[in-house]
Amino acid sequence: MDQNAEIYQDLDRILVTREKIAKKVKELGQKIAEDYAGKSPVMICILKGACVFFTDLIRETPLPLTTDFMAISSYGSATKTSGVVRILKDLDNDILGKDVIIVEDIVDTGITLNYLMKILIQRGAASLRIAALLDKTARRKVPDLKVDYVCFDIPDAFVVGYGLDYDQKYRNLPDIGILSPRIYGDK
Ligand code: IMP
Ligand code: MG
Repeated sequence: MDQNAEIYQDLDRILVTREKIAKKVKELGQKIAEDYAGKSPVMICILKGACVFFTDLIRETPLPLTTDFMAISSYGSATKTSGVVRILKDLDNDILGKDVIIVEDIVDTGITLNYLMKILIQRGAASLRIAALLDKTARRKVPDLKVDYVCFDIPDAFVVGYGLDYDQKYRNLPDIGILSPRIYGDK
């Protein structure tokens, strides 16, 4: 995508370029393949934010894996987490006895993932790990949440692109950028 395109005007700056993302995603896929050698994990895409990351990551992970999708909501259209998590779309398949890898776009306060982990443990997953594209550790409210795989640690800023949205926009940007505060004001 042309970086002069209209939607790029809403960014303060690009934080992670598409080239850097591709490199890290490839490395992560290799790492997961090593860690799960001989196994067939279920990789779960947390919709919608993780969709772009997920489709790239599974293609870089040479394992006989399966996929499933779950949609949860924690944000609405504002930029601050509400702490309220709802399942909008549940998994299609049972995870009892499976090695599960949750693929998430960003860990912010950690409230969403903490809630999700509890649900999936109750359902009897044999093992459960988290792979996140981005981690904003500065904002964590669940200190003991273990994020097993992270591509990039980022500062406390609201970011969009590569699947991440603001008000459902910007998911199609190939790069990750810091959204200009003038776009969201103090919502
Ligand atoms: P948490 O429960 O605070 O960890 O919220 C995690 C969810 O909030 C992510 O899955 C995103 O959907 C959303 N989120 C958090 N920070 C950002 C951001 O900077 N840009 C876009 N979405 C974000
Ligand atoms: Mg999300």
